[in-house]
Amino acid sequence: MSKNDFFKYQAPTTPFAPGIEIEKAEGCTIIDKDGNEYLDLVAGVSALPLGHRHPEVVKAMKDQIDKYLHVMVYGEFSQDPAVQLCKKLADLLPEPLDMTYLVNSGTEAIEASIKLARRATGRSEIVAMKNCYHGNTLGSLSLSDYEERKAPFRPLLPDVKNIKFNCFADINLITHHTAGVILESIQGGAGFIIPDSRWWKALFDRCRKVGALIILDEIQPGMGRTGALFYFQKLGLVPDIVVSGKGLGGGMPISSLTASSEHLKLFASNPMLGHITTFGGNPVIAAAALATLSVIDRDLKSFDVEGKELRFRESLNNQHIVEIRGTGLMLAVILKDDQHTAAIVDRCRENGVLFFLLLFEKRAVRITPPLTISPNEIDHACGVLLEAIDHFYK
Ligand SMILES: Cc1ncc(COP(=O)(O)O)c(C=O)c1O
Repeated sequence: MSKNDFFKYQAPTTPFAPGIEIEKAEGCTIIDKDGNEYLDLVAGVSALPLGHRHPEVVKAMKDQIDKYLHVMVYGEFSQDPAVQLCKKLADLLPEPLDMTYLVNSGTEAIEASIKLARRATGRSEIVAMKNCYHGNTLGSLSLSDYEERKAPFRPLLPDVKNIKFNCFADINLITHHTAGVILESIQGGAGFIIPDSRWWKALFDRCRKVGALIILDEIQPGMGRTGALFYFQKLGLVPDIVVSGKGLGGGMPISSLTASSEHLKLFASNPMLGHITTFGGNPVIAAAALATLSVIDRDLKSFDVEGKELRFRESLNNQHIVEIRGTGLMLAVILKDDQHTAAIVDRCRENGVLFFLLLFEKRAVRITPPLTISPNEIDHACGVLLEAIDHFYK
């Protein structure tokens, strides 16, 4: 296969894909077909907390492949990897988050969460944030306020209201008509925006007061990226539904919604089969996710996420960087304008280090490496990024 075949046969998402031809990937390194090595600070867009092909994840999958693959649609038979994964999530999450529904992608978990909030409250309105991103299927797209991206696909879901993240006044727009309030615990595409802790509490208080469910999208900050398994655990209040994805599978496609058993059992009646999926909880993928979660639970402290964050922040000291947003290993370097962001990322790639962009914040260079990245790799990556910034802003 050649790069031409990639552009000819595989449907594109943008006209600008670099189309690196992948040969192999291990740890924090990707190798292309010409033997070029790339240090990976994107981690499959936050999907590889343990890097590429972590040995315990690979072993868990191989062991499971030798037993059985798909045997039955989700929820009918008891298959150990899926059951153990749901149990492990219940063990690691606070009460009342004791039951998990496994699906195949982040956007599918968001769709299921919208349905669950409506089913649990009997209301239809969903409140989402301005500049949110929750996925690209019709329901998830409806949550966005990005009109340019929505317009060609209308009509979308009715009864969606967007409020400003970190805005106290907007909290009053959540009412007794609201089924659920959905938000990213750190806004990703918007530019790695951290919630204000007082606003967070006021939002939770308001939802409790009017009986709206709180749905937290932890798809990006989750799985140890901020130094806690999920970022909301650092903020101290428990949501009604936690959505995980991306890094949960350690490189395999799986997503989840965890809630109380009281809530999640609602999918099984009135109507029965209120949410179904063929491949959700697939045994091989669930085995990968269980291994990933177990390694993170065991080793998160030794990854020293806070120390690595500090190393990035201290190294990336440059007059053209106005701010480094985010926390842990979910960092966005904010440049003084958006003139050269894409060119800087391209130059770093040509120099063997992969960074990426953010969806809405065009001044941002994304840094979301595997949590296993070494201090030497951080120093090397920062050097390459600073060289590229200086090159374009000279
Ligand atoms: C915060 C957030 N929510 C939801 C999604 C959608 O996940 P998926 O691409 O697996 O459907 C993403 C993907 O980037 C995301 O970053």
